[in-house]
Amino acid sequence: MLDLMTPEARANPYPLYAELRQTGIRQVEPGGMWAVSRYDDVVAVMKEPRRFSSAGLGQGFLPPWLSRNPVTESLVMKDPPVHTQLRARVSRAFGPAALAVLEPRIRALSHELAEQLLRQEGPVDFMAHFAQRLPVSVLGLLFGLEPSQYPRLKEWADDLVNLPAGRHSLEEQLRVRENLVSLERCFEELLHARRQSPGADLISELLRPDAGGSALSHDELMSFLFALLPAGIETTVYLLANSMVVLSEHPQERARVLANPSLLPQLLEEVLRFEPPGHSSLRLVTEDTVLSGVHLPRGSIVLVLLASALRDERHFPQAGQFLMERERASHLAFGHGIHYCLGALLARLEARLGLEALFSRLQDFSRASPELHWSPSLIARGPLVLPLQLIPRR
Ligand code: HEM
Repeated sequence: MLDLMTPEARANPYPLYAELRQTGIRQVEPGGMWAVSRYDDVVAVMKEPRRFSSAGLGQGFLPPWLSRNPVTESLVMKDPPVHTQLRARVSRAFGPAALAVLEPRIRALSHELAEQLLRQEGPVDFMAHFAQRLPVSVLGLLFGLEPSQYPRLKEWADDLVNLPAGRHSLEEQLRVRENLVSLERCFEELLHARRQSPGADLISELLRPDAGGSALSHDELMSFLFALLPAGIETTVYLLANSMVVLSEHPQERARVLANPSLLPQLLEEVLRFEPPGHSSLRLVTEDTVLSGVHLPRGSIVLVLLASALRDERHFPQAGQFLMERERASHLAFGHGIHYCLGALLARLEARLGLEALFSRLQDFSRASPELHWSPSLIARGPLVLPLQLIPRR
């Protein structure tokens, strides 16, 4: 069986994805999951939550040594009708009006971080000094946390993201358990404070009843806030980082974007297609079913390979090439259907403002080391460290 978890596969999964697209739907390691790799098949799975469910997929987030984890009750792991109700109640907090309020604050934050990055001497790790800091700070802003708590937010997010893959020692189990309790306590305090005096932040917005007078319950709110940590941080970190990796390997595009930042939205759309931060998602087959001629037994798990669909030649001519001028063929980097990323507008805004602030100070940049070590995850892809040589504008 083809193994997607070998170090070679994680370093460069694209040749394996191409092989999978040749043969169609088939079982792979890890776990004998059914890999769906072609664009049309990916869309078919994501369009049909009744046969391909998102429920029951949270086990990875609830190892036996953890008695509870609110993430497992969040909307990303629910099907209709529960998903529909939850989504309707949280959507407006991520719409254009909410983002317009945030935009000047994200811009100011981006300039501050860009300034700090450029103050570093010699090669600098873009991950630690910029890519990881901006999305954490934006989420901190959204929650209305004090900046002194942002590093803690990063720690909590890392603990949640690492749960499914982790082999935790007893000591680590204890630490993670304590951390999740303290995260819940932090959200409890924020909820209490915003109930007393609402502000212009996400939590106050989520507490407000909708037009029909109904509001999220305490547990629904807690699950949603928990879910924003794994959903909103790592993905956006990798969008920023993958943009720098791709530009470091495409000098002409780099020169064009550095000279003309209005090209940034175009750049980001093609990075999202060519080197997407989210490589896959999972679904549970709810009944014996046939997809593109392949029988999928009830209870099996489908590995939805978004990153493979985004390189499908049937949908994207010259799919293996990075072409900023590409026609806007609808891409799947933010998923498709009812679970389409709630933070897509925010992620695009953050990445654009972050790179705009940075590029306004940069003459050029290059990689300080040709080697890249990619995250070993099957779900999210980005470099673990990214040493860059930055040449500031004079
Ligand atoms: C470049 C950055 C991002 C990427 C590539 C990304 C990708 C995705 C994908 C592929 C899904 C669908 C998952 C599925 O169908 O199983 C999703 C859902 C979701 N994303 Fe994002 N995401 C990003 C940033 C964000 C941000 C910044 C937030 C919020 C702060 C966010 C919040 C969510 C939520 C809440 C869902 C679940 C929606 C639902 O179930 O209805 N994401 N994201």
